[in-house]
Amino acid sequence: MLCLGVETSCDETALALVRDGALVDAVLASQVDIHALFGGVVPELASREHYRFVGALYDTLMARTKLSLDDVDVVAVTRGPGLLGALLVGVGFAKGLALGGNKPLVGVNHLHAHLLVAGLERPLRFPALGLLVSGGHTHIYAIHSPVKLELLGKTLDDAAGEACDKFAKMLDLPYPGGALLDRLSQGGVVDPAMFPRPYTRNENLDFSFSGLKTAALVHLRSRPELLRAGRQLGVTGRVEEAPQALRDVAASYLFAVADTLRIKLQRALGTSSTPYTSLVVAGGVAANSTVRAVMADFATASGLTLHLPALRLCTDNAIMIAYAGWLQAEAGQGHGLDLATIPRGRAIPDDESPLASWCGARPLAV
Ligand code: KG4
Ligand code: ZN
Repeated sequence: MLCLGVETSCDETALALVRDGALVDAVLASQVDIHALFGGVVPELASREHYRFVGALYDTLMARTKLSLDDVDVVAVTRGPGLLGALLVGVGFAKGLALGGNKPLVGVNHLHAHLLVAGLERPLRFPALGLLVSGGHTHIYAIHSPVKLELLGKTLDDAAGEACDKFAKMLDLPYPGGALLDRLSQGGVVDPAMFPRPYTRNENLDFSFSGLKTAALVHLRSRPELLRAGRQLGVTGRVEEAPQALRDVAASYLFAVADTLRIKLQRALGTSSTPYTSLVVAGGVAANSTVRAVMADFATASGLTLHLPALRLCTDNAIMIAYAGWLQAEAGQGHGLDLATIPRGRAIPDDESPLASWCGARPLAV
């Protein structure tokens, strides 16, 4: 079964083809340079850029693979969560393909896709404990099967990625600062006591990183030389010239983020009777070297098989959408042309229907 995946939830326009669970090819156009000019994603610009690129990317993918819509068995698309205008571009495009080619349509939950794509590299064993750490989300899941994911805990304010990006912003590093902060932390010496583990003195599995941000702000205000060094790094981009003290602060901050994630995962294991066999860590922040190292230690200590997707599968991409769409289609689930897009902050409904071509869409009473 050949599944085409379309992703336009934030600032990457991406398409990919997955056949029987294996990657065929993928294309991606990032808007990150445009949004960096504004210090964050501008929703209106994101929609415009998706609209500009999605058709051309589709042509490129099909030309490169020498495939056509006739060869595609199912069209999968991110239906949410994300920026509403941005999502609508991808969903509109995917509905057009499904309608024009008489293909079944599958609406994919972007967050589930982040976690499930680990299975493309190495078969996932269930039940798995899942940690999704991205720019907008910090979620813990019990993954019972490819189509049954149970949300156990979530962030109450900033996501782990935002906590990284905002710390980078305090240092005047360009947006999004997470990856640069990661590079800066290389060679830094972690002081585990420099920053707190926010919102861990409770019984739940939720996250709140605002306390960590405040602690970082207070710390940096007391060390103006670090702010000056950060500002210089923001201008030159030359991480190799950063002073050791700045590296140490970056390393300690990232360790506090990673260790907070570890504490809640440990609690999820300790308070559940679910016989987890593996741990999946996914999303943009799973690309972070400190997070990867802390999770590797945690998985070993807990006897779990660790699934950490390759870096290009951690950040937003359409491979994960095509793969998750293929899994859903294999399970016989799809959507009609009435598929709704779900913006960030709203729960994605379980509204799958049996997989069918567009003719199977539920007719609207008009
Ligand atoms: O999953 P993703 O690509 O997009 C969302 O769905 O949000 O995650 C983007 C987030 C950003 O906050 C970015 O700074 C962060 O992932 N990120 C990193 C690294 N690479 C990306 N954060 C820390 N270290 C990295 N290496
Ligand atoms: Zn994402």
